[in-house]
Amino acid sequence: MDNNQPIGIFDSGIGGTSIWREIHHLLPNEKTIYLADSKNAPYGQKSKEEIIALSMKNTDLLLKMNCKLIVVACNTATTNAIRELRAKYDIPFIGIEPAIKPAATNSKTQTIGILATQGTLISELFNKTAKQFQSTKIIDQIGHGLVPLIESGKMISPEMTQLLHSYLTPMINANIDYLVLGCSHYPYLIPQIKEILPEHIQIIDSGEAVAKQTRNLLKEKVGFTTEKNGKAIFYTNANPTVLRGILQNKYDVIEKDF
Ligand code: DGL
Repeated sequence: MDNNQPIGIFDSGIGGTSIWREIHHLLPNEKTIYLADSKNAPYGQKSKEEIIALSMKNTDLLLKMNCKLIVVACNTATTNAIRELRAKYDIPFIGIEPAIKPAATNSKTQTIGILATQGTLISELFNKTAKQFQSTKIIDQIGHGLVPLIESGKMISPEMTQLLHSYLTPMINANIDYLVLGCSHYPYLIPQIKEILPEHIQIIDSGEAVAKQTRNLLKEKVGFTTEKNGKAIFYTNANPTVLRGILQNKYDVIEKDF
């Protein structure tokens, strides 16, 4: 089964490019189309209804662009809207959720930290998953302000350092040995997070797992491309310079109103 249509990926902004990187690395021949809905970022403070409506808007555009499957490269959109997306559209969806399972299963201190958006942490889906690991203490923290700083090009800034210290210090004091990054923007903060965390605390994100899931779905249901060196196209509806910067000016970034 061959399928030369592109893979569609969307996020509230530039963060999902951390997931796109993993997909592009694992499946370099696949064409990818990425939508950064930066105009509407952050999704993390919006209501479930708003997140569903925005996710549907992004999906409609990716479908118009003939995508064969859609990766919701946003924990907030996945935990609030994936059920509704799957109910409305025929196309397969892959979502991203905070990787509680590997952290809880491997934690020796039985205490893990999760940094995610408010929308993710209050969602039904997240709380349902968290309940399965009741013997593990979960220290959750809303990453207030982190996404807006990343979206406005202030990823490395005194404000960011200060916020990260204030969010991570209580987790260190609570003796976590795993930190789960529950937002696709946060992997870009790993170098700064590592400077704050003691070395024994492991950091986990879900990017590689999502890429492997994408490969499985292509293999089992959707089909791989027969082409080589898949082109990656990025669309954004705000701040193209920040997206170009995070992609090191290596890929086509198109400004579009959506
Ligand atoms: N990158 C997104 C996530 O994974 C959303 C961040 C936001 O827009 O608040 O949750």
